[in-house]
Amino acid sequence: MADRQRSAVLISGRGSNLQALIAASARPDASATIALVISNRADAAGLDHARQAGIATQVISHRTFATQTAFEDVINAALQEHRIGLVCLAGFMRVLSPWFVERWRDRLLNIHPSLLPAFRGLDTHRRVLAAGVRFTGCTVHLVRAEVDDGPIIAQAVVPVRHDDTEDSLAARVLAAEHRCYPIALELLASGRAWVIDDQVSTAGTEAPELMALNPVI
Ligand code: GRF
Repeated sequence: MADRQRSAVLISGRGSNLQALIAASARPDASATIALVISNRADAAGLDHARQAGIATQVISHRTFATQTAFEDVINAALQEHRIGLVCLAGFMRVLSPWFVERWRDRLLNIHPSLLPAFRGLDTHRRVLAAGVRFTGCTVHLVRAEVDDGPIIAQAVVPVRHDDTEDSLAARVLAAEHRCYPIALELLASGRAWVIDDQVSTAGTEAPELMALNPVI
């Protein structure tokens, strides 16, 4: 078996996407292994999922640093110490500086619960319902300095139902997130997706697993 890409996941809370990434990386044919989980909050439930899976964890609280640079220096040092190649943001509630984003350019992934570039930012599902759109979804993308911006790796479409609440919609989108993120990480880690002209390419053809994310379309 080829060496797996040592990957880190940065979280702030629940960690359900982290769980999906851990589960996928346990498959014998996975190209990525989750080698480190960093949380900026000591009470993040996701830390327990990581510990149960025997994954190294670190709590690096932004509150203990005087500057964003000092906070990010410590995160960066932890990533280097663990020889991390890919970094997944999964509900990490801190905006990273252009320096950090550039340092990890094309190796830093994020998941957002909408079909980007629509509905960037917080309170996504409330705004989706207010806009009356019929479809929403989730996006895994490479991170750029602008929030919720960057080359898109994978998206899954989710219908909005007439009786949806924020909670019911969030739950349906979250289930899609759990399918989407492992596929995106696998495509990058395996070298089957890469960046050309600031867009993600998958060898000129759609990767079948990307098509399978949206079977109706
Ligand atoms: C997800 O909805 C993700 O899209 C957003 O934050 C949430 C994190 O959920 N960025 P979890 O911690 O992975 O359960």
